[in-house]
Amino acid sequence: MKNIGVLISGGGTNLQALIDAQKSGVLKSGRIVCVCSNSASAYGITRAENEGIPTKIIRKNADCGGDTDEFSRRICDYMKEMNVDIIVLAGFLAIFGGKLLEEYADKIINIHPSLIPSFCGKGMYGLKVHEAALAYGVKVTGATTHLVNEVVDGGKIIMQKAVYTEDGDTPEILQRRVMEQAEWKILPESVELLCSGKIK
Ligand code: GAR
Repeated sequence: MKNIGVLISGGGTNLQALIDAQKSGVLKSGRIVCVCSNSASAYGITRAENEGIPTKIIRKNADCGGDTDEFSRRICDYMKEMNVDIIVLAGFLAIFGGKLLEEYADKIINIHPSLIPSFCGKGMYGLKVHEAALAYGVKVTGATTHLVNEVVDGGKIIMQKAVYTEDGDTPEILQRRVMEQAEWKILPESVELLCSGKIK
């Protein structure tokens, strides 16, 4: 059984999907041992507290003077303190690097709300991804889970699921459809694959 640490920045619906997957048995080779947010107002913190999961807030600017290495080190230290084996970026919208990437090489998984390599990379996160997909006029978008390396959204792909755009979509409507049809399914399944040692 692997210890999972989840990093979040906002609403935490993907965190909720992981909690639900743990309860339903879809996620059975790991358990969430802590949640860390880079924003004090993230609703995902409340979701974690409701489940009795330990939480911590580490902010890049307010706590680390905007220093990415210090930010990475502080998160890494917390993950070690909580005996975390696998880290899940569940809507974690801050860039990190350094120590965290070295210590947890091939043990960090991210969910991105498009079919990589479309609409990804630095500055492409959250609603911006769906705005870009609609502006381009794609008929199919989706979500991707991947391992995290030093290239933003550039690590090995684990799972992808396609979702159709529809006439009249706004970024908010499309975001919700991609979450419901893709993200909340492939993230728990991918975390289970990583925890059960099926990703080489
Ligand atoms: C999700 O759509 C996730 O894929 C995206 O942020 C949202 C977080 O929602 N992540 C990225 O864009 C990462 N580049 P949530 O807080 O409700 O899970």
